[in-house]
Amino acid sequence: MTVHFIGAGPGAPDLITVRGRDLLARCPVCLYAGSLVPEALLAYCPPGARIVNTAPLDLAAIVAECRIATDQRRDVARLHSGDLSVWSAMGEQLRALDALTIPYTVTPGVPAFAAAAAALKRELTLPEVAQSLVLTRTSGRASAMPPGESLANFAKTGATLALHLSIHVLDQVVAELTPFYGPACPIALVFRASWPDERILRGTLATILAEMAVSPMERTALILIGPALAAEDFRPSALYDAEYQRRFRPERGA
Ligand SMILES: C[S@@+](CC[C@H](N)C(=O)[O-])C[C@H]1O[C@@H](n2cnc3c(N)ncnc32)[C@H](O)[C@@H]1O
Repeated sequence: MTVHFIGAGPGAPDLITVRGRDLLARCPVCLYAGSLVPEALLAYCPPGARIVNTAPLDLAAIVAECRIATDQRRDVARLHSGDLSVWSAMGEQLRALDALTIPYTVTPGVPAFAAAAAALKRELTLPEVAQSLVLTRTSGRASAMPPGESLANFAKTGATLALHLSIHVLDQVVAELTPFYGPACPIALVFRASWPDERILRGTLATILAEMAVSPMERTALILIGPALAAEDFRPSALYDAEYQRRFRPERGA
């Protein structure tokens, strides 16, 4: 029997993958991280499924749910918001399942940064403007940042930044980034991307705090920063350049 870790996507129930939805539909037990996973996804669980919101549980209680289910020869769907590769707390659960020799699979999901970029209708990497995207956060009450992973260090590269778990310290973020990106650098705040109450604020490092004061956001919001957010005069990519000899697109008549 198996525990299936499934990325639930950023919020809209139709942004789960087909594989994730099908797994949900055949697992008689579903453990879901209630704070960010849309309850509408639970409609895919089979009739009579045991459905547990793990928000109030600790790691030992979550692992106990998995152990009891697999002892009863029941597969478990373990739903986490977005994708599982970032800030999902999957790592410690996998380690505990390994210790109990309980098998598991991992099915990816649409991460919040991708949903935020879609809401903004922007590509986050543009030729010669930004070719890297840094997924990061600021330190929280429970988790300090490792030394070296400072905003200043990432900002030195000029890459596009996607800052998670940080909307409550926007003033600090603006203060730390302005010396590197400059006050005119574009910034966007995306609140609950893909949810019905999605909201977007766009501005520059110089203006965004005033905009946020008028239209406050908290908790489930992403901060995106970097010149790629507003660049219009970027060079087109070579991919569709008619002059570019590509291995898989030989010249007409060749
Ligand atoms: C614990 S992390 C989860 C990240 C998730 N595993 C992912 O793949 O995006 C939670 C943070 O992700 C961001 N987030 C998650 N869902 C979001 C959404 N729908 N819109 C905007 N930001 C979101 C917020 O910054 C939030 O504080």
